[in-house]
Amino acid sequence: MGLVPLLRRLPLGTGQRAVSVTMFAIEVEGLTKRYGNLLAVDHISFEVRAGEVFALLGPNGAGKTTTIRMLTGLARPTAGRARVLGLDLLTEAARIKKRIGVVPERSNLYDELSAFDNLIFAMQLYGVPRRERKRRAEELLEQFRLGDKRDVPFARLSRGMRRALTVAAALVHRPRLLFLDEPTVGLDVVSAHGLRALIGRLREEGVTIFLTTHYMEEAERLADRVALLVRGRIVAVDTVDGLKSRAQQGVTVEVHVQGGSGEEWLRFQGEDVEAALRVALAHAEAEGKRIVSVNTLRPTLEDAFIQLTGLSAEVMRAEKGKP
Ligand SMILES: Nc1ncnc2c1ncn2[C@@H]1O[C@H](COP(=O)(O)OP(=O)(O)OP(=O)(O)O)[C@@H](O)[C@H]1O
Ligand SMILES: [Mg+2]
Repeated sequence: MGLVPLLRRLPLGTGQRAVSVTMFAIEVEGLTKRYGNLLAVDHISFEVRAGEVFALLGPNGAGKTTTIRMLTGLARPTAGRARVLGLDLLTEAARIKKRIGVVPERSNLYDELSAFDNLIFAMQLYGVPRRERKRRAEELLEQFRLGDKRDVPFARLSRGMRRALTVAAALVHRPRLLFLDEPTVGLDVVSAHGLRALIGRLREEGVTIFLTTHYMEEAERLADRVALLVRGRIVAVDTVDGLKSRAQQGVTVEVHVQGGSGEEWLRFQGEDVEAALRVALAHAEAEGKRIVSVNTLRPTLEDAFIQLTGLSAEVMRAEKGKP
């Protein structure tokens, strides 16, 4: 793999400029984690481009958290290699940890510390200069609409506020790469929407985002590219549109028919729209029904997922911890 650092710094002299090379924020090759007989992550390889939102989409137990834990230096790979922000995961994990932000599945903040003090503590860990801490903490509290919760202990915040503060704490040192493990699980609709909007804003600021999810619409809405992870293996990596077009086999038309016992919506498939409509018309004629309206259905990410992974949609809809 091309092991070129994300930012290549040249010595500055006459006629020389610092050259920034837009490259991969993450490069993974054959990354593997074995727990006893279980291959939790099985030789996965992919690249995350600088500045993109990359989603690892898979059902419960697919290996999403294990992958994030390896890439963030919390779990040691059994095999394989990776570069994160141009740094070698196996030999430079400590430097990687200083440069990335991580929002774990379960918050790593302290229940008894206030919102403000949790941020100050995170800044100490990340080495944010002392004189900047107070202002940065207040700025983040405002940005995450937690200004009036400054002195409230973490444990007393609502679930959505706790998640927001956990994200804020991951951003204290302005990382260029943020890892989020299932960012919206357990959040109400409004909090989930707010968090997705924040991810969009960070992307606009040029932050690379690596997130895991088992919500297809979340991957579809947020991600520039999606990797489908099933039983520790990556089945496909592509844009949402790319995944959909891979799965597309013919066209489905949805037809609203009336007659006989009432009205109903029926679906017909064909090689193209014309072929599908011909089947629909033949059906209507044979049954003595009248076609009232017609929609052409585009394949959803769910259709693509089912075709590419061979799993059912129900597997993905299973709630966390309740497979
Ligand atoms: N420390 C561990 N020891 C043993 N097995 C583990 C350990 N951590 C994870 N596993 C196993 O590895 C597999 C992948 O787990 P992982 O938590 O990475 O999945 P996930 O995709 O994050 O699932 P979820 O959607 O439920 O969070 C599972 O079978 C899990 O039981
Ligand atoms: Mg997980």
